[in-house]
Amino acid sequence: MAVTRTFSIIKPDATRRNLTGAVTAKLEEAGLRVVASKRIQMSQAQAEGFYAVHKERPFFGELVSFMVSGPVVVQVLEGEDAVKRNRDIMGATNPKDAADGTIRKLFAESIEANSVHGSDSEENAAIEIAFFFKPEEIVG
Ligand code: CMP
Repeated sequence: MAVTRTFSIIKPDATRRNLTGAVTAKLEEAGLRVVASKRIQMSQAQAEGFYAVHKERPFFGELVSFMVSGPVVVQVLEGEDAVKRNRDIMGATNPKDAADGTIRKLFAESIEANSVHGSDSEENAAIEIAFFFKPEEIVG
């Protein structure tokens, strides 16, 4: 299996509860390596741009408001089959549906405040990584 990269966000509900380390530990235990990481306050424009694919959805406004409601930690994760590995450890979008032991089952508060974002494909991972990181900020 090839070593690939994916993009992750530790969302405001998790940073607010001081869970950055706990979430990152779950990612590392799942075989993912943090090769870039920064804590940022997302701007309205950044959040709208990042989630542009969802702009026709009824939850778009609330999603953007939530993502700018506090700091987030954006990360690049590396590992074998990183996109799938990360999605497996994150669990289902809605924590009510998330499997035991997953990050969202353990930590998420709701479908919106669901603690983490992870890319859904390698193609989107490359786009999302480039949205927040310069190549020289990623050190494998
Ligand atoms: P994420 O993986 O960051 O991608 C889009 C986000 O929209 C998703 O996680 C959820 O946190 C959020 N969201 C809020 N409401 C809904 C909803 N009803 N259905 C799907 N996603 C939602």
